[in-house]
Amino acid sequence: MKTIIEPFKIKSVEPIKFTTRGEREDILKKAGYNVFMIPAEDVLIDLLTDSGTSAMSAKQWSGIMDGDESYAGSKSFYRFEKTVRNITGHKFIIPTHQGRAAEKILFSNVGGKGKYIPNNTHFDTTRANVEFTGAEAVDLLNEVGKHPEIKADFKGDMDVDALDAFIQKVGKENVPLVMITVTNNSGGGQPVSMKNIREVKEVCKKYDIPLFLDACRFAENAYFIKLREEGYKDKSVLEIAQEMFSYADGATMSAKKDALVNIGGFLSMNDEELATKCRNLLIVTEGFPTYGGLAGRDLEAVAQGLEEVLDENYLHYRIRSTAYLAEKITAAGIPIIEPPGGHAVYIDAKRFLPNVPPHEYPGQSIVCEIYLEGGVRGVEIGSVMFGKYDEKTGELIPPPMELVRLAIPRRVYTQSHIDYVAEVLIETYKNRDKLRGYKIIEEAPMLRHFTCKFEPLT
Ligand SMILES: Cc1ncc(COP(=O)(O)O)c(C=O)c1O
Repeated sequence: MKTIIEPFKIKSVEPIKFTTRGEREDILKKAGYNVFMIPAEDVLIDLLTDSGTSAMSAKQWSGIMDGDESYAGSKSFYRFEKTVRNITGHKFIIPTHQGRAAEKILFSNVGGKGKYIPNNTHFDTTRANVEFTGAEAVDLLNEVGKHPEIKADFKGDMDVDALDAFIQKVGKENVPLVMITVTNNSGGGQPVSMKNIREVKEVCKKYDIPLFLDACRFAENAYFIKLREEGYKDKSVLEIAQEMFSYADGATMSAKKDALVNIGGFLSMNDEELATKCRNLLIVTEGFPTYGGLAGRDLEAVAQGLEEVLDENYLHYRIRSTAYLAEKITAAGIPIIEPPGGHAVYIDAKRFLPNVPPHEYPGQSIVCEIYLEGGVRGVEIGSVMFGKYDEKTGELIPPPMELVRLAIPRRVYTQSHIDYVAEVLIETYKNRDKLRGYKIIEEAPMLRHFTCKFEPLT
């Protein structure tokens, strides 16, 4: 059959609230034109993030009842540890309450002033956790990944030559680890090829530097490898994931993505000395090493989710449904990062709104308008999220891309929800000449996009 159906039946439903455009105008104004500040019940279709928004399966919910809440040595931890170890092959598995807690613990131990962490593209929390220690987060994305209009299979690949040159420039003793983010969220949810992971590992080996994966979307990345990379079509997604992790000496993971849960994460590694340091910090900041900031029931749900996410019927539906939204809106002329990523469609705001310059935040303008038009919530990934100010002139230094991310929660929305989203986007695009920029009137020194307030320009 050609029709791809959701590979699940719905057992429990959650009503969504409908609002009028007039009501949404008031809601948005009250939120300081920052959609993070809008109460979720005033959102019709929430594509703010795919993080922690998955629908859990009946088996995960039964795992929640089955969770062992013992403080130390919970049986749920051992199931979690076994499942994570089966996928990663790593010796030491440290649960954390979410991805950024794993990052905080890792970089508190290896970061610091004078250190550099190369990545294909750091996600915002990863960058913040690196920089918080005084170290520098360096993005070394392959050239093709910087061009939204170019269609290529592995736009998340790291620039291997640039990595080698960078390590030589700053000195290998100043690079405590190299990271690869799979898939590359900030660069459009684009996958990284096995070839690239292997080549990055070779460079790391040459300088005796460990390689870590930021593995939030490892299953989606593995499925792209199966679909697109020569030699992998007959391998199972589990085998591909295992090979990806085999080149890595460790990983950070937000289980809120590809473990199909609402909270959770882990840090894994092979280095015993580092693992001991990380566990010691975990005890201070997260909890005992067999629960690490989670309840036993959460560990059960993560373990079950990690098994379900590797189901190829699920991954086929997942990757196709993201592509379905992309195909509908590109047919209407909307510019996006091509090809669409695994978990999200990224609108290219520079080409959508060429008359709104980066310092007037074109992505934010689109985000506000799609909320007003149809109650759809997306997120700006551009100058609001990653812009910096020049220390001397105070002028905005924009990042290379201005994007709007429409992240698709896992197993939550049906095809008709996605059809509705496409309609809202197409209507907004038709009216793009009427859209205006925004200015920031209040902001925090770090991760400002979560709380800053805007004012529309007239
Ligand atoms: C690539 C990547 N790394 C790290 C994180 C941080 O994970 P968490 O939100 O669980 O702290 C995210 C979350 O969106 C992410 O996408």
